[in-house]
Amino acid sequence: MGRFVVFEGGEGSGKSTQARLLAQRWNAVFTFEPGGTAVGQQLRQLLLDPETGDLDARGEALLMAADRAHHVATVIRPALMRGRDVVCDRYVGSSLAYQGHARGLGFSEVQVINDFATEGLAPDLVVLLSVPEDVAAARLALAGKPDRMESAGVEFHRKVAEGYAMLAAHNPHSWVAIDGTGLIEEVEQRVKAIVESRFPPEVAQ
Ligand code: TYD
Repeated sequence: MGRFVVFEGGEGSGKSTQARLLAQRWNAVFTFEPGGTAVGQQLRQLLLDPETGDLDARGEALLMAADRAHHVATVIRPALMRGRDVVCDRYVGSSLAYQGHARGLGFSEVQVINDFATEGLAPDLVVLLSVPEDVAAARLALAGKPDRMESAGVEFHRKVAEGYAMLAAHNPHSWVAIDGTGLIEEVEQRVKAIVESRFPPEVAQ
């Protein structure tokens, strides 16, 4: 099995950039959620289009889990089984922070539907990138029109950050929180140091 690393964080945390950089460095499969498959793109459209309007929280959690089930079955697990490393931009942690904590469904109920969706496939490491609210807001201001989740309001995104912090604190073996402030290269060095300590390079024989 290859190594499975996930990047998590709120909007504007820079995790997508860092996920791509690690995937390049490892020559890993890079993928993302929601929308990492053709079917997933349709679910992503539904989930993120502001035109969708309010979605029942359970419906939202199930649609995220449906995207993930198809993604795991057709992209992530087959790649890992072939021995490829996989770097994924968002995974179950996003559903726990956004739907579980910020939408108020609770971690345990959201975990249950995700265990079903993923058949229990858990990442070897989750890298959580955190930035203060003002840094995230400044980065987002450059990103154009907000999607449905980005428009959910300051309080919602505070809850997301709180949910992530709880997850990292409760899962110290699999989660690591990294300061996402500063230049891309600076954050990259922090990520690299952590990843190398978790997955030491194989000693040449
Ligand atoms: P995306 O464009 O991937 O956001 P970012 O650039 O911040 O990664 O949009 C994904 C949005 O969907 C983001 O607001 C987080 C949200 N989301 C959930 O609420 N639950 C989930 O399980 C996942 C995967 C994403």
